Amino acid sequence: MKKNNFLLFFKKRRSIRCFIEKEIEKEKILKIIKIFKYLPSSLNSQPWKIFIINNKEKIKEVGEKLSKIHKYSYPILNAPLIAIVTVDQDLSKKHFVEDGSIAAFSLWLAASYLGLGSVWIAIYDPNSEERENIVRKVFSIPKKYRIICILPIGYPKEKPKKKQIRNINEIINFYNKRNLFI
Ligand SMILES: Cc1cc2nc3c(=O)[nH]c(=O)nc-3n(C[C@H](O)[C@H](O)[C@H](O)COP(=O)(O)O)c2cc1C
Repeated sequence: MKKNNFLLFFKKRRSIRCFIEKEIEKEKILKIIKIFKYLPSSLNSQPWKIFIINNKEKIKEVGEKLSKIHKYSYPILNAPLIAIVTVDQDLSKKHFVEDGSIAAFSLWLAASYLGLGSVWIAIYDPNSEERENIVRKVFSIPKKYRIICILPIGYPKEKPKKKQIRNINEIINFYNKRNLFI
């Protein structure tokens, strides 16, 4: 990445919910999954298990079942590929949500870097395992893997609208006010 391009890299990543029908090249997928060698995790547990699926019928099945209880699952239905981000709870007991979230967002960023689009479809819910159980059943995912989210991935078919962005000063609080330079 060129100097000063790092902010553009973050700016470019948006939620993409519509995909063209094009398959994703195997080389791209192999490139993306290499990030798992470098991600941080609690106690360096590297507890992830990522299920990558390009079987159209299975994608449709899980998309339809989830959409019945979570309307924002619809992007799954038109994706050529989905990545189910799970964490082995035997390897990460206390921090499985954080470990899984780091993995999911890193995958999302990597996909975006390579010109692909994605979006986070929330599966983990601290109050109910209903969505997890649906995904678990469709793909026979063992109980020890907690399912954080599904990332539908594909070539973008939409240009997302401008979104509201909060003022940086509302988000960042410098400890020493005199050092406020934004
Ligand atoms: C924890 C989390 C859960 C999300 N869940 C969903 C979801 O279930 N379905 C969906 O379409 N988008 C979901 N999103 C995407 C957000 O709606 C999106 O990131 C936000 O509107 C900002 O837009 P942007 O990603 O284009 O910057 C989720 C994002 C996060 C971080």
